[in-house]
Amino acid sequence: MSKVIVIVGGQWGDCGKGKIVDFLTEKADIIARYAGGNNAGHTVVVEDQTFKFHLIPSGIIHQDKLNIIGNGTVIDPDVLAKEIEQLESRNIQISDKNLNISTNAHIIQPKHVEEDTATGEKIGTTKRGIGPCYKDKIVRTGMRMSEFIKKDTSAAKKLKPLVKDTYLILNNALEQDKNLLIEGAQGTLLDIDHGTYPFVTSSNPTAGGACTGLGIGPTKINSVHAIMKAYITRVGAGPFPTELGTEEDTNKEDSYQDLRKELGEEGIKHLRRRVVTKANEDDSYNQGRWLRMNGMEYGTTTGRARRTGWFDLVGAHYAIKINGLDSIVITKLDVFTGLKKIKICTAYEFNGKKLTSYPTNTNILKNCSPVYEEHEGWTQDLTEITDFNELPQAAQNYIKRLEQLLKVPISIVSIGPKRSQTIIREDMFF
Ligand code: IMP
Ligand code: MG
Repeated sequence: MSKVIVIVGGQWGDCGKGKIVDFLTEKADIIARYAGGNNAGHTVVVEDQTFKFHLIPSGIIHQDKLNIIGNGTVIDPDVLAKEIEQLESRNIQISDKNLNISTNAHIIQPKHVEEDTATGEKIGTTKRGIGPCYKDKIVRTGMRMSEFIKKDTSAAKKLKPLVKDTYLILNNALEQDKNLLIEGAQGTLLDIDHGTYPFVTSSNPTAGGACTGLGIGPTKINSVHAIMKAYITRVGAGPFPTELGTEEDTNKEDSYQDLRKELGEEGIKHLRRRVVTKANEDDSYNQGRWLRMNGMEYGTTTGRARRTGWFDLVGAHYAIKINGLDSIVITKLDVFTGLKKIKICTAYEFNGKKLTSYPTNTNILKNCSPVYEEHEGWTQDLTEITDFNELPQAAQNYIKRLEQLLKVPISIVSIGPKRSQTIIREDMFF
């Protein structure tokens, strides 16, 4: 029997999806993406090689896997052509055997990027033309891949052999008992319908988008899992109840590259010590900064410092409902190392009332303050541990308590970027 598994981001994106999808790819025959475009950025580390993808599913670095970019995505053809060239320069050959692109995916045109650059500031978009391209799709003035490849350009020629009726390829594969791993981009709270509108992206990264964005029926999906960090981050503007420090202060920070240039390795070490000391004196900005520096929370493409905060259970319960989650994968638990206390937001307070369900009105969300439960932290390095029971007791307690509060199994705990740094608690996958 074929199996279809959907992996979504459970927060505001950047949750370490690329690594987990890569990890699960081994047992999949096909890996498919259904929404978003090169606003996404995935970093995958295999042995000593680091790969950065924006459009191509991370399954591409495995041999004999078919990767599909579905009709629900938006594609900047130059970016895709470059990604293919980069892979080829590292001896990964691309053909219609390992990469198919839907005829119906929409094309991000230069005018879309221009418009996004001019108007995206308020939301803090990635300026990749995502919103304007989806806008043209919805008003029926867009350009699809099938039309684009008729052009006489180098990108069109490069992509043409890969463009297929991907809905058909997927449905045929399911009849032939193939395993399908569906990879969501961004995250639940960035969903155009269910996210913190208008501070959202322009597609449906939630599980429902997998069906419309690929052309497979909901009855074909076996299970849905979300990736969530042990804390939470957000890039760009918008409400963030558990934020540590302020958006303004985070935005004033340098990118990691600039920081390293300015301070050098020794200077960074010194800064880290200062930050963790202040964090442990209960300074919330430095707690957030510790998560940022320890977790390398800087944009894959832009280098932007990401806003950071404690795990938000209210948001997580919302993601459980919107996606119908079967399990949750918790990533980056190792990032907490060094903090004496860690917190979980169990509810919000709004106008003196306690809220436990996520307010869908962004103006309410903006004025919610977090209600926290405090837990012991730890100082041990987790990154070499392979067995859950060998984690420091405080780390085990944090995960167990989180699971109890989530009421959904935590199937995997990730403690570093490498494949080996993945602790499977319950194998609910292929
Ligand atoms: P857009 O998708 O470029 O239109 O940006 C809309 C919002 O979504 C902005 O706040 C972006 O920072 C955010 N966003 C888009 N893609 C990602 C992603 O892959 N990770 C995190 N945030 C994202
Ligand atoms: Mg990302």
